[in-house]
Amino acid sequence: MYYTTQVSEDIFFVGASDRRLNLFENIFPLPNGISYNSYVLLDEKTAVFDAVDKAVAPTFLNNVASVLKDRKLDYIVITHMEPDHAASLMDLLNKYPEATVVGNNKTFTILDQFFNYPEIKRLLVTEKDILDLGKHKIRFFLAPMVHWPEVMFAYDDTSKTLFSADAFGTFGALSGNVFSDEMNFFEDRLDEARRYFTNIVGKYGMQATNALKKVLAYEIEYICPLHGPVWRDKDLINKFIEKHKLWASYTPEDSEVVIFYGSIYGGTEEIATVLATRLAHIGVRNVKIYDVSITEVSSLVAEAFRAKILIFASASYNAGLFPYMETLLLDLKAHSLQNRFVSLIENGSWALSAAKTMNEILDGMKNITFINDTISIKSRLQEEQLNEIFNLADKIKENL
Ligand code: FEO
Repeated sequence: MYYTTQVSEDIFFVGASDRRLNLFENIFPLPNGISYNSYVLLDEKTAVFDAVDKAVAPTFLNNVASVLKDRKLDYIVITHMEPDHAASLMDLLNKYPEATVVGNNKTFTILDQFFNYPEIKRLLVTEKDILDLGKHKIRFFLAPMVHWPEVMFAYDDTSKTLFSADAFGTFGALSGNVFSDEMNFFEDRLDEARRYFTNIVGKYGMQATNALKKVLAYEIEYICPLHGPVWRDKDLINKFIEKHKLWASYTPEDSEVVIFYGSIYGGTEEIATVLATRLAHIGVRNVKIYDVSITEVSSLVAEAFRAKILIFASASYNAGLFPYMETLLLDLKAHSLQNRFVSLIENGSWALSAAKTMNEILDGMKNITFINDTISIKSRLQEEQLNEIFNLADKIKENL
């Protein structure tokens, strides 16, 4: 069987969703599955834009066939060679051996690393080259490191469609509704879009910013990403683009505070709760607390990209830092998080050692401003140190 959706006059969504995969890239939890998107364009020439993950290849091939009907496939445009898209490329080529694969230099380097298929017909393109399909002219923009070095965007001058590879993607399966305007995207799915972008592309913010600048100079009526919903509503497109500009430039999205705590016997958790309660009492809204042992780290990374002020409160551990807190901070550093206000709280019963490691990690990150001296607690917060927590709350409020 097949299920496709017409995106515009000549463009069809032929992707499919996987709700069984637990970990995307064998790292990131997928509580709501994921979609692997592909598109067919029918013109004087026909083209498929990207393939899909192996898991949904049979559906994808049926979908492509149902749109092409008895037409031959002329081109397969590869905007991204990562196997969550390109794994089924050979299945597609086996079915349509006459098709020419369109890619840039790096596309073919990676393609040849994955597949031993030298007889493949190839069309090499580079920045701003145009593929003429008839009425539709496809222009290419190299977008290296968004998210691999071979990534490129494709833009259809006629329908003003941007095929955006991993950019503008969202975790989560699609459930019949393919367009973002058919769902409550900003209420229900924005968190998963943020978690997707910050964890997959977040490290390459500058490259993402540069690539977005190039394509956003063109009028865009449709965005067709490789994961998540398709975009066609102008207001929603603009809103989503603004979110990406913030994430890619490491600009806080919300003027809010998030408290991350790592606690062994509850002492540090109590400190976090006392601080959050004080913040609430002095009028700070929407404070968030996360237990770094409980909330999976990719969600914590996304929250750190969202909020302006980050408080790290951690137990000491083995004369170092509590491991889950160390994992979080190293992950934030690995994703190049910058431009944040932070403050540290350490706790320890026999050796106060958490802040030393936290400081060492944060030292290697750009534009991190400490709003307060480190607060050191021994085992449990005592009445006489309450003023230190209250002062920190005041500093947080001042800096929001
Ligand atoms: Fe969806 Fe970078 O692959």
